[in-house]
Amino acid sequence: MPGQTDLTSAKNNKNDEFYTQLSDIEKELRYYKKHFEDKVVFCNCDDPFESNFFRYFVLNFNRLKLKKLICTCYVTSPVLGQQLSLFDVVGGGEENKNKPYKAVVTKVYDATGDGSIDMFDVAELFKNGENELSELKGDGDFRSEEYIELHESSDRVVTNPPFSLFREYIAQLMKYKKKFLVIGNINCITYKEIFPLLMNNEVWLGNGMGRWISGFIVPDTYELYGTEAEINDKGQRIVATNNCLWLTNLDIKKRHEELILIKRYSPEEYPKYDNYDAIEVGKTNDIPCDYPGVMGVPITFLDKYSPDQFEIIGMGCGWNGNSPLVIRKYPQKQRQIDKKGKETIVGKLNDGTPLIRIDREQIKGTYYEVDGNCYIRTYGRVLIRNKHPEERKSEK
Ligand SMILES: C[S@@+](CC[C@H](N)C(=O)[O-])C[C@H]1O[C@@H](n2cnc3c(N)ncnc32)[C@H](O)[C@@H]1O
Repeated sequence: MPGQTDLTSAKNNKNDEFYTQLSDIEKELRYYKKHFEDKVVFCNCDDPFESNFFRYFVLNFNRLKLKKLICTCYVTSPVLGQQLSLFDVVGGGEENKNKPYKAVVTKVYDATGDGSIDMFDVAELFKNGENELSELKGDGDFRSEEYIELHESSDRVVTNPPFSLFREYIAQLMKYKKKFLVIGNINCITYKEIFPLLMNNEVWLGNGMGRWISGFIVPDTYELYGTEAEINDKGQRIVATNNCLWLTNLDIKKRHEELILIKRYSPEEYPKYDNYDAIEVGKTNDIPCDYPGVMGVPITFLDKYSPDQFEIIGMGCGWNGNSPLVIRKYPQKQRQIDKKGKETIVGKLNDGTPLIRIDREQIKGTYYEVDGNCYIRTYGRVLIRNKHPEERKSEK
């Protein structure tokens, strides 16, 4: 029987085969036009026969004034055949179907002479050799040498990479100092390897997250859970995960729009953490306009974050127990009492998650007891500071 880890990794690997819809790519890419003029774009986890990233860039090649588009894939994906397949148009034997390809596009025009530019023109330009379509020497793994060479010769990397290799994938982009726009899971904000990049303003969130990405095309082999998937008018199976975001290091206007803050600080409404010198702000919209110190906010705050307005100080979450921001440690054995009253001895109060000390009468769910004091753990919090807080109104 598979263990929990096997099941988790199977689920993660399955997300490696979530294909992006053209409408979602168009919706986000609308805000980046200026970043593409005269640039070499590399879609590097994208089967040129079926990726909507390839389709987007090739059909907008002239409008974006691209210099070159390079597109490679790893292995033929299970959604092959659900979309207009260039393979069928360009031709080739059955034996070629499962091979990884590289497409290099330097021109796009009305090659079929039918008065418009579509995927048939793109296919024609491959067929007549004006653009290049060739088999990769290796398997198209993004860590391979062949791939890294292509990577180095490109100016922009845009794709939805395999979820299970996301940390490694971003590390490689950073190593080669690439400008990129990619899709990731919202939880990547809390990854030990990704959060420091966000904190140091080396990467940031794109225009939208969660429902902004309406859903992914999944292979027929994907098991449907409850009502999470539906079939669209093209017969494709769509899963609305609502848990993804765009991650980028290309500047966008939204990043310079400041949040309008209407609330004011009061110690009653914003409790102090017991283990950080910071206050708890449970909702981004409730950030007080006049608090000059450190505040803990939900990770979704980063969707509204402008470095002109706030400074990110750190992350309060389960891997950051040794952070210099942690001001208190607790005895190793702590009593955890769940909402049914079941007691367990735990050690997690020292893991870096912000804690709020509460009165016994206020307890509603799971809490922790140490030396007669009661605590609740918050969710992971981004620790921020307002760069120009309003002046506090004097207390009467
Ligand atoms: C989440 S899917 C997205 C596909 C496409 N970028 C899109 O958005 O429609 C990730 C893709 O990465 C491919 N992939 C998995 N492991 C890879 C690796 N080691 N190197 C390159 N690509 C890989 C998968 O086959 C899959 O096609």
